[in-house]
Amino acid sequence: MRLTDCHNVADFRELARRRLPWPVFDYIDGAADDELTRVRNTESFASWDLVPDVLAGVETIDLSTTIMGKTTPLPLMLSPTALQRIFHWQGEMAVGKAAEKFGLWFGISSLATVSIEQIGEAISTPKLFQLYVHKDKGLNTSLIERCQAAKFDAIALTVDTIVSGKRERCLRSGFTSPPRFTASSALSYAIKPRWAMDYVFREKFRLPNLDSYISAGTGEPISIQNYFNSMLDQSMDWKVAEDIRHQWGGKFCLKGLMSVADARRAVEIGADAIMVSNHGGRQLDGSRAPFDQLAEIVDAVGGEIEIICDGGVRRGTHVLKALSMGATAASGGRLYLYALAAAGQPGVERALTILSDEIERGAKLMGITSVAQLNRDRLRPR
Ligand code: FNR
Ligand code: LAC
Repeated sequence: MRLTDCHNVADFRELARRRLPWPVFDYIDGAADDELTRVRNTESFASWDLVPDVLAGVETIDLSTTIMGKTTPLPLMLSPTALQRIFHWQGEMAVGKAAEKFGLWFGISSLATVSIEQIGEAISTPKLFQLYVHKDKGLNTSLIERCQAAKFDAIALTVDTIVSGKRERCLRSGFTSPPRFTASSALSYAIKPRWAMDYVFREKFRLPNLDSYISAGTGEPISIQNYFNSMLDQSMDWKVAEDIRHQWGGKFCLKGLMSVADARRAVEIGADAIMVSNHGGRQLDGSRAPFDQLAEIVDAVGGEIEIICDGGVRRGTHVLKALSMGATAASGGRLYLYALAAAGQPGVERALTILSDEIERGAKLMGITSVAQLNRDRLRPR
């Protein structure tokens, strides 16, 4: 199986599965507990059907969307995800370069394997920094100041990881950051020599945004569960979120909201956007899918704040359904991560080509020439 055999997100997933050591693949693919929420995040899109119009003159269409003050050609964002150089040696830089070719928003995680400064210099597409609030307040302030200096376009404060979800695939595989080659896991790495050679001989793995502060950044192997549970500040509350917004002073997004009450509070503290998200099912298993939860949030705060539907998106039509329900845009992680893991920057570019073709084809078949024409009239529940 080669890159040219990939025609949808599921194909990239399969190629990634074949190319990665299984502990790494399972870290990307896996989620919490029984993974009910991960599965539901995608299935929820199938609970609603699209109702197309025809004879609409769709030779030229414009699907551009303004998200947090930046106009992008498509209503799709690449969500921030951690540790990308473990998935492919090109890491975040590959994702940023690919996003730039399509003019899309992309984000880097607090646990990015490239520095805020490198991304600030190299990538001109709209970029957000995903902030985790650490117990070490000096670290939080340093991250915000570095984003200001590097001219990031937004900060997304993730609020759904107050403790780690129980990721059983990682418990079984012993996955750590950086990967630890123990007697029991060595075989899984040895049988993927291409990955192993890249990992060992390319640029050394680092977490350059954390490394002068906490042990997760020192290169000592640590599980993600351990990082969340020991280094993040569980006392984080609305006051902290509001203070961070003020300290940052730029476009501000809360990532990981699910309830109407929280969406209202996000408006009250002056956030520009919310990502309705359950972290790709990696945190609270049994949490509702973002798409299922969208309607009530749109009804409550639509027009007062931008609403991004994050998670489960695997098809262009999923994006069209999210917008029909009232989202400003849709976003996702695995939709580009499998492709990154499978083939680096060319992989992500191919995934984005396929997704943008699917969105455009779907829009034409829906008989729309702009995203503003999507509304709930275009959807029916099954
Ligand atoms: C994530 N996600 C995530 N979110 C975040 O705020 N900070 C992070 O460091 C990460 N890291 C991360 C790693 C991996 C491997 C995955 C799959 C996800 C969550 C991510 O931003 C997004 O919310 C989900 O990926 C959405 O679900 P889908 O699109 O993957 O189904
Ligand atoms: C994850 C992190 C790091 O979901 O957010 O693995």
